[in-house]
Amino acid sequence: MRDTVDVQLGDRSYPIHIGTGLLADAGSLVAPILNRKRVAVITDENVAALHLDALCAGMGAEGIEVVSLVLPAGESTKSWKYIEQSVEWLLTEKVERDDVVIAFGGGVIGDLVGFAAAILRRGVRFVQIPTSLLAQVDSSVGGKTAINSPHGKNLVGAFYQPQMVLADVEILGTLEPRDFLAGYGEVVKYGLLGDAEFFDWLEANAPAMADGDIAKRIYAVTRSCQMKADIVARDEKERGDRALLNLGHTFCHALEAATGYSDRLLHGEGVAIGCALAFETSMRLGLCSQEAPSRVREHLKSMGMKVDLSDIDGELPDADALVELMGQDKKVVGGKLAFIMARSIGDSFVTRDVDLDVVRGVLRDALALR
Ligand code: GLY
Repeated sequence: MRDTVDVQLGDRSYPIHIGTGLLADAGSLVAPILNRKRVAVITDENVAALHLDALCAGMGAEGIEVVSLVLPAGESTKSWKYIEQSVEWLLTEKVERDDVVIAFGGGVIGDLVGFAAAILRRGVRFVQIPTSLLAQVDSSVGGKTAINSPHGKNLVGAFYQPQMVLADVEILGTLEPRDFLAGYGEVVKYGLLGDAEFFDWLEANAPAMADGDIAKRIYAVTRSCQMKADIVARDEKERGDRALLNLGHTFCHALEAATGYSDRLLHGEGVAIGCALAFETSMRLGLCSQEAPSRVREHLKSMGMKVDLSDIDGELPDADALVELMGQDKKVVGGKLAFIMARSIGDSFVTRDVDLDVVRGVLRDALALR
């Protein structure tokens, strides 16, 4: 079972293959773009333990040699230390300009290796093989690459598109339920931001998808990638529409900062809570009906997801401090925050014209329920 979505970016266009058996077929899929039968794979220790042999076998079936670097798992790998280690390792392995580097892992590995590929010899080609739901539906697509700085997340990076993305949904079967559901936060975001029918479909089908239904997983990943591909094709460098992909993220980034980018709140969990808060804010601004935020919350709750600030363990700062943390967002222009607001489920828009007193009120009420 396979599907393909094309990201249309002129001479930088590329396919996203979504389906089953993609690790086994990785060699035949990648072979046409190789200059020589050798690839450099960078992955993390969790993915390596579970899936590196399968990837090597898939490459070996086409006579492709694999050299691999295994990095520690976790957000702290997206750092200057590991970008240096990755780039120096690629140079030690004599990876040339026309070679292909493979990012084999979740969002951390995809962002780090994509950035390493962007700066190595002023740019070597790379392929994304995302292994988490979050990476398959979001971070592996669209060419955002980055590491974190002590000043904040994703502050050092480049827009650099891969040559191909291989999203093997069978790999998702090895994810911890919490990680799968966190990735689901990004899936539901697509329905909320631009496709009411997809949200209807998720309400009916997401429980079976979470339980492991492969056909539904392929559909959900394909629809998410298609929506992202369409938006990226319109606005690669996020001058306009691409910001729609940040629905829920202004709230999420403040909550992630408040929880120290720790296990207290995974990114996708923050996105889900952020979407609920964005719909609540939209309702209070008179932009959408009262029913819309209730429906968003009900669906997230029915999936067993975090949806309230009380679902986050430990202390949180007050509403003023959370709004202050929002001010660190990359999308602040001239001191004005960008919010993605909703007219209804499936109809969102970007605005810098949100009254922060309303946002404070939403946060104050959400904090009061803790
Ligand atoms: N994750 C949001 C974007 O790629 O633009």
